[in-house]
Amino acid sequence: MSLAPVVTIDGPVGSGKGTIATRLAQRLGWHFLDSGALYRLVALRALSLGLDLSHEPALRELALTLDCRFDFNGEDTIVWLENEDVSRALRREETSAAASRVASIAAVREALVARQRAFQQPPGLVADGRDMGTVIFPAAPLKLFLTASAQARAERRYKQLKGKGESVNLPRLLRDLQARDERDSSRAVAPLRPATGAKIIDSTEMTVDQVLEEAYLLVEKNILNN
Ligand code: DC
Repeated sequence: MSLAPVVTIDGPVGSGKGTIATRLAQRLGWHFLDSGALYRLVALRALSLGLDLSHEPALRELALTLDCRFDFNGEDTIVWLENEDVSRALRREETSAAASRVASIAAVREALVARQRAFQQPPGLVADGRDMGTVIFPAAPLKLFLTASAQARAERRYKQLKGKGESVNLPRLLRDLQARDERDSSRAVAPLRPATGAKIIDSTEMTVDQVLEEAYLLVEKNILNN
């Protein structure tokens, strides 16, 4: 039996891949995997249990036994952790920082592999992350790597946060983003880099709709019309 097709979308923070992946999945009527949410869930659960974030065996166990569910309400994805809606808690700064630490642990990454692959169901899957094309779905028929200049990504984040009424500082956002880029691409396990054969989309000068259109045309060409 042939498996359902997968489009992988990887890229650095602020590249817009979350938005593109969600909208592409909606347009295709396919499943959607937000792999970052899994690392955030492990981090959130570890924080609520008061676990030491350097205790690798405990974090691995947590990743293996995580009781979570994703529901799409037509607009947003609601994330449930043991029947509690944790969608907002997942986005907290504290959770992001802990997720970044948890994601650098090889045992945790390994423990999440099967869970991520289980999302590959008919009619297809759009998988969003950092290592979707390199590690989790290396045989995907279409791999995208979304990027944009650090300045453009920092400006997008700035507008987003400002729109939410948060006080933000653009130079600091840019510095933090460059530091995260450096950490993500130089870490020992699953560093961020384009997969072999990945199509690179640089969205610095593009709108969300233009990127979505380009991604959709690539799906048509590489998967739907094949
Ligand atoms: O995309 P995000 O910000 O929700 O990801 C949360 C953290 O998990 C971030 O530190 C990057 C990491 N991550 C990863 O290492 N591999 C993935 N496939 C997805 C996210």
